[in-house]
Amino acid sequence: MFAARQSFNLFQKRAFSASASQASKVAVLGAAGGIGQPLSLLLKLNPRVSELALYDIRGGPGVAADLSHINTNSTVTGYQPDASGLRDALKGSEIVLIPAGVPRKPGMTRDDLFNTNASIVRDLAKAAAEASPEANVLVISNPVNSTVPIVSEVYKARGVYNPKRLFGVTTLDVVRASRFISQTQGTNPSNEKVPVVGGHSGVTIVPLLSQSGHPSLAGEARDALVNRIQFGGDEVVKAKDGAGSATLSMAMAGARFAESLLRAAQGEKGVVEPTFVDSPLYKDQGINFFASPVELGPNGVEKINDVGAVNEYEQKLLDACLVDLKKNIQKGVDFVKANP
Ligand code: NAD
Ligand code: LMR
Repeated sequence: MFAARQSFNLFQKRAFSASASQASKVAVLGAAGGIGQPLSLLLKLNPRVSELALYDIRGGPGVAADLSHINTNSTVTGYQPDASGLRDALKGSEIVLIPAGVPRKPGMTRDDLFNTNASIVRDLAKAAAEASPEANVLVISNPVNSTVPIVSEVYKARGVYNPKRLFGVTTLDVVRASRFISQTQGTNPSNEKVPVVGGHSGVTIVPLLSQSGHPSLAGEARDALVNRIQFGGDEVVKAKDGAGSATLSMAMAGARFAESLLRAAQGEKGVVEPTFVDSPLYKDQGINFFASPVELGPNGVEKINDVGAVNEYEQKLLDACLVDLKKNIQKGVDFVKANP
């Protein structure tokens, strides 16, 4: 009897310590928006998330009340911009996802969002640097090529910058690439892997079809596919006709990235996602951030993979990418210097 009780206690202890080490608080800033709501829904369905903190300048508590009725174990709390709302949402978070900010309308580039979104992201980064400096920060708000450097400058100014914990979410580009290539080839998209490197806007999005399952794609078919991957976001903006940009596919992509980080944090090896990070790959050309496949680990970035072998056509795409990327990154850095 005693032995049975003792082994039961041991089992309980093990079960407790396993779940305690896997307790993961995730905060979503901009949780009531077009991306924020479905993203929060997917996070509520993720058993790796133990606590969900939903912050928005309006509507956070309503979204939280709604999601909190879903019968999964995580707790959901909504926060608003009162005295300590943002700080409380952030405190203790392992992951902070930022989809706060305005989306594009037809005719706009992502860079046209800079004037509005730069200060939104800067202010949220200030709060995160204070309340949860060790969290992984996942920036969704556009223009990603500039908003990620903004977060890094804010953290640097406060002496808490850890380049391994800052990620621009570019997952949607590979999600689209695998879907679009499968449509041209009549294949199953879940079997299609297309690396996409560079940044997250127009020509800074560089698909590497030579490294896909269809390396011999060439000519007009290749050009059309590359163009569709680079400008996939515009397709949705046009179809939504003024009502915003991709939200549902973005929520799926953001939830996938968060899930990958949690898997890696919880000990899984070999978890690789494309992401726009502080990267050594093109630093010698003055480009401090670059998206490439990154292996994730318990400390965030584990290993940054390079772009691999590219053909002449892809080298030209990369050359064009680097020109724009450099300007986009500098714009973010300069913004924080001028508007700390
Ligand atoms: P949306 O307008 O539907 O939602 C944005 C939300 O942010 C709103 O609920 C708003 O109240 C909130 N918000 C605004 N300022 C805030 C602040 N200071 N603090 C907290 N919340 C704040 O827009 P959306 O469609 O969800 O898009 C959000 C952003 O994501 C846009 O910048 C869009 O361009 C970008 N986006 C990025 C990707 C990507 O691949 N990285 C994909 C799609 C969209
Ligand atoms: C996307 O790629 O869908 C997003 O960056 C939103 C946009 O403005 O296109």
